[in-house]
Amino acid sequence: MHAFFATAAKGTEGAVRDELRMLRFRKVRADRGGVHFEGNIEDGYRACLELRTPMRVLLEMARFEAEDEASLYDGVRAVEWEEHASPKTELAVRASARSSNLTHTQYIAQKTKDAIVDRLRERFGQRPDVDLADPDILVSVHLAKNLATIYLDLAGSPLFMRGYRTEHHGAPLKETLAASMLYLVGWPRDRTDFVDPMCGSGTIAIEAALLADARAPGSLTQHPFGFERWASYSDERRAAYQRLRQLAEERYQQAKQSPRPSIVGFDIDSGAVEVARANAKRAGVHIRFDRRDVRDLVLYEPATIVTNPPYGERMTMSPEDWRKAVKALMAVPDARIGLLLGHPDMLDAIRARPEKVITLMNGDIECGFAMFDRRGR
Ligand SMILES: C[S@@+](CC[C@H](N)C(=O)[O-])C[C@H]1O[C@@H](n2cnc3c(N)ncnc32)[C@H](O)[C@@H]1O
Repeated sequence: MHAFFATAAKGTEGAVRDELRMLRFRKVRADRGGVHFEGNIEDGYRACLELRTPMRVLLEMARFEAEDEASLYDGVRAVEWEEHASPKTELAVRASARSSNLTHTQYIAQKTKDAIVDRLRERFGQRPDVDLADPDILVSVHLAKNLATIYLDLAGSPLFMRGYRTEHHGAPLKETLAASMLYLVGWPRDRTDFVDPMCGSGTIAIEAALLADARAPGSLTQHPFGFERWASYSDERRAAYQRLRQLAEERYQQAKQSPRPSIVGFDIDSGAVEVARANAKRAGVHIRFDRRDVRDLVLYEPATIVTNPPYGERMTMSPEDWRKAVKALMAVPDARIGLLLGHPDMLDAIRARPEKVITLMNGDIECGFAMFDRRGR
């Protein structure tokens, strides 16, 4: 059994935990910055293939007290790196630290790298190289209150790099954040019709469609996962991973045969609609994208609405237009609504009170994700 950690962007820990539970991972426990779970190495592969909400999936290699440089070096050197790395493997190390004696993250990364390189040189008589841009093995060191946790990054690249969004309109959301918002409003359980009335490049609607189609996001990515480049990726493990991919494909083919909720996206800008259509085509999902002004939105069927209205340093829409837009959304019958608001005035301008507001980061912009449950009203 291994311990894994799925890292979560600020505010999305609950979404990552719910997703891990829905996908039947074991010993799921939310923590600061992410969610712990346990399993065998194949569970780790499955996490990379199927999870939509986390940023990264990390495999825990060691955990020890590291009050100073020497204890960090010794602890890292004691790990059996030769199981996963060879002298041909190129390495990179990322570090983070909080409330610890060692604070300089670049220095922590350097010391960790030295310990790994020394261990491998001792075992193989040759040292591996460092490649910061495209390493075969990405090591992550996390120091909290002098406790060091050493991880291998299973996926290698961040999971939001699904590969379908080669075009964008304005500043798009990360795919993992879009998927997290769907979990936060509870859409994966409800499966009502879905609408993003200000869809831009279409990210939220595309993530909704991938979810509804049971399409494993990892099956879309063109580049290999980190673990596929490790020395420990034997023929047997490759076969195990291929089986997981095959199972994911079968679930997708099965889901395609069953009826699924309608998923639509609208935007006032015809350029955005074109971009969203092209992205959906690349992702292999069927979504209706049309040009429409949110203020004219009229829906007769219950729906879940998740959207990311425009914002800048000041509110981009006038308060009057924004109020009209919100009025149209609130008129949708039995709606569940999630609004990612990048400016505090946007929430103040809404007359209805949200059930909950969670702080989420959209890039480096702090946003309020305001959720409304209008069912039964
Ligand atoms: C922040 S962007 C959405 C980005 C999107 N979530 C993505 O990932 O690409 C906001 C979008 O709202 C659209 N918009 C602005 N005013 C609108 C209106 N009155 N009706 C519909 N869409 C509108 C803009 O054209 C823009 O594409």
